[in-house]
Amino acid sequence: MADVRLGFIGAGAMGIIHLDTFRGAAGAKLAAVADVSEERAVRAAAEYGVEKTYTDSVRLIADPDIDAVVISVPNALHAELAVASLEAGKHVLLEKPMAMNAAEAEHILAAQQSSGMTLMIGHQMRWKAPIAAARRYIEEGRLGKVYYVKAGWLRRMGIPGWGTAYTSKAMMGGGCAVDIGVHMLDAALHVCAPRKPIGVYGAIYGAIGSQRKGIGTWGVPNWNGSFDVDDLATAMIRLNDGTIIHLEASWAAYTDGEENGPYLHVMGDQGGIVIRDSGSRFLTEAEGQPVNEVLAEPSGDGVERLLLAEHFLTCIRSGAAPLTDGWSGYRNQKVLDALYRSSETGSEIKIDDF
Ligand SMILES: NC(=O)c1ccc[n+]([C@@H]2O[C@H](COP(=O)([O-])OP(=O)(O)OC[C@H]3O[C@@H](n4cnc5c(N)ncnc54)[C@H](O)[C@@H]3O)[C@@H](O)[C@H]2O)c1
Repeated sequence: MADVRLGFIGAGAMGIIHLDTFRGAAGAKLAAVADVSEERAVRAAAEYGVEKTYTDSVRLIADPDIDAVVISVPNALHAELAVASLEAGKHVLLEKPMAMNAAEAEHILAAQQSSGMTLMIGHQMRWKAPIAAARRYIEEGRLGKVYYVKAGWLRRMGIPGWGTAYTSKAMMGGGCAVDIGVHMLDAALHVCAPRKPIGVYGAIYGAIGSQRKGIGTWGVPNWNGSFDVDDLATAMIRLNDGTIIHLEASWAAYTDGEENGPYLHVMGDQGGIVIRDSGSRFLTEAEGQPVNEVLAEPSGDGVERLLLAEHFLTCIRSGAAPLTDGWSGYRNQKVLDALYRSSETGSEIKIDDF
């Protein structure tokens, strides 16, 4: 079968990671790179042996030699570029979060449905071995009835690109909640599927970033820029069967301890799961004694990204819906919208059936 010819839109930090990952994926041809920065496009093309470069992504999308695009640009451009790509008959791997809000995500979903092309959202966490194992254990009934999930990702000093698109609500739609919070939200909703979110009570803060502190290593700060997004977000998400997901995320917060970094804890009436960077365990009890088992060995560095890339190529070939399909991106976006709205109103925000 012919290689899938890929066009990469955005050759920034994430675009380069995708180029590097797809270079190692069987059946992928790195065919074109587009970036508004010609220097970035040309540098990336030279490093990854890509033949064509564009500074206008509209021209890459119109290129008949391209089968599929990988979109890694600021979130404000996701909807416009994803819709144009789907309408032009390209398959789309779209970075997370899917869009700026649920209305935009719905627009992308409609373009996917009318075009019939493959649309996948870049939630690589789903391919981490412990998260995949958690889903399997729950399906096998080993946790009994799941009723409480704690999911989060806390960074002490991790604000990416202070003053760039990352800290602009107009460019990204939010801060840590839409950046790292959405990964853990997606993982938590995935292990709880087919339950659906029906309400969110949450709050956001920007206490550290507004002081120009808490700066991380992703991106280069622009001290002439501004910061108007969240650096800490917390939410109680109610699912339709009464299960609660407690989600928290921080780019910057004066916190330390075992929960720093991404984590997922799932509690059921017969067993539980704890996943942290340091390891993952299945917890239950037998004859009055606690029983702890290793859930899964951690995936090696970057393995989940390669599995995601391979899954995208497989879905293009088979026509199967990706694990992280447009619907899941839209669902995540509805929860994020409700979280921001709840922070404004101080009340729980109901999510309509969808
Ligand atoms: N999956 C993950 O773990 C993960 C991690 C980081 C970032 N991301 C996502 O990736 C996306 C990009 O983030 P990043 O860190 O690479 O940002 P970045 O600023 O490093 O790169 C963005 C690139 O897009 C280019 N660009 C802007 N407008 C463009 C246009 N119209 N056409 C073509 N190129 C354009 C910029 O010049 C820049 O090179 C965001 O949506 C972000 O949320 C995902």
